[in-house]
Amino acid sequence: MQLTSEQQKMLDGEYGPGAQLAMKVQVAVGDAYDAPYMVPVTRTHVALSNQEADLWFAEKMAGLGATCRVRPTTNPSFNWDQMKRVTTIDPEDEAIVKRTHAAYVKLGALMTYDCTPYQERNVPVFGETIAFSESSATPYVNSVYGARSNRESAQSAMCAAITGVVPYYGYLLDENRHGEALVHVDAPMETDFDYQLLGYVTPKFTGFKLPVFDGLANPSPAALKNLCAQLNTGGNVAMFHIIGVTPEAPTIEAAFGGREPQLEVTITQDDLDQMRGELTAPYGPIDFALFGCPHLSIEQITTIADMVEGKQLAVPLFAMTSSLTYDLAQNMGYLDTIRAAGGEIFSNTCMDQPVWKFLEGKTGVTESPKCAYYTKRRAMDFVITELETAVDGALKGAVER
Ligand code: F3S
Repeated sequence: MQLTSEQQKMLDGEYGPGAQLAMKVQVAVGDAYDAPYMVPVTRTHVALSNQEADLWFAEKMAGLGATCRVRPTTNPSFNWDQMKRVTTIDPEDEAIVKRTHAAYVKLGALMTYDCTPYQERNVPVFGETIAFSESSATPYVNSVYGARSNRESAQSAMCAAITGVVPYYGYLLDENRHGEALVHVDAPMETDFDYQLLGYVTPKFTGFKLPVFDGLANPSPAALKNLCAQLNTGGNVAMFHIIGVTPEAPTIEAAFGGREPQLEVTITQDDLDQMRGELTAPYGPIDFALFGCPHLSIEQITTIADMVEGKQLAVPLFAMTSSLTYDLAQNMGYLDTIRAAGGEIFSNTCMDQPVWKFLEGKTGVTESPKCAYYTKRRAMDFVITELETAVDGALKGAVER
C-alpha cells in the first residue's frame, strides 16, 4: 500500500506507539482488501461496548499514548445513576463502566453514549468519507445520507479516529455502492415496525448482495432506523438503496449503476408475517416492556408518553434514548408522565449490558427484533410487536393481537 510520508512516519512510530499501532492495524486491513492507499476521514463513530475486549483495546491504546485526530462519538454503556432507580448495581459492573469511560476520555473521544449518532450529533453530508461502526449507523449513513463508510468494527473505527485516515476499499469506491439484488416489496408497509421485519427478512433472500428496494414510499426516519438496524443484525448489510427515496437511487438504473440485477426477489406480507412468527414469543402475559434498541427518537418517546398519560402501567416499562433526547423528554414533561405511570427512561444505556440481569428468565415486550436477539444470551424472552401494541401490552400486563 502506498503511504504518504506522514502516514509512513506514523507507521514508523514517529507520532508515538499508540498512533503506530493504529496505523499498523489499518495497513493490515488495507492489505487484506487490496487497498491502494489511505484517504482522510472527517467523522468517526465507535461502537463502544463496555465489554472486556473493548476495555482492553481502549486501555491499551490510551496506555500507548494514542489520541484521536478525528474525535469519535461513542455507543452507550449504562447509566449507573439512573439504573439505580430500578436495580442494584454490581460494583464490578460499575467499575468497568468507569474504566471504559476513563480510557475513552483519555483517547479524546466524545462521550455521547448513543447508538443513533446519525439522528442528532454526528450527521454526515452526501459524499463525506467517514468511519462508522454500530449496526444501524453504518447502513444509515451510507444509504440515507449517501456518506461513505465501510462496515467498521469498534476497533478499526477507533484506529481511524486516531490516524485520521482509512484504507481506500469497499463502500468508499463508486463501483461497490451499486445495487446487486432487486427487492420488490409487495406489502402495505403501514407502520414503522413493518420495516423491522423487512430488515430482518431481506438478507434471508439476498445474502451478501447489496439490496435495492422497490415499492417503499416515504418511510419515516424511525422506519429507516428500524430497517438499518435489522438489515445489519439479521444479515451483514452495510448499505442499501430505496428507489426514489435514498440519494443514490433516483432511478432503478442509477441504483444499479446501469448494470442488470444479479438477483430479483419479491417480499410479501406473508414473508413478513412468517418472520414475525419466527422472531416473537407467543402473545400473552409479560413481566416488563423494554424499548429503544436502537435508541428512541423524541417522536417515539412522545408516542409512549401520550399512551400512558394519566394511567398506571401493569408492568415496568423501560425506554432507552440518547442524553440529548432524554433532556428534551424531560423538558417536555414526558419523563414525569412516564415515571408517574410507573415507567422509566434511561440515557446513555444499552440493553446488551450486565446491568439488565435483574430481568433474566422473564418475558418482556419490545418493538425491536435486535433487542430480542441480543438478550437471548441473558435468557430473556420477548414478544416483538409494534410500539403502540407493546405499550398497550405494558398497560394491561399482557400483549394482545
Ligand atoms: Fe443500541 Fe445497544 Fe441496541 S448499542 S442498538 S441499545 S444493542
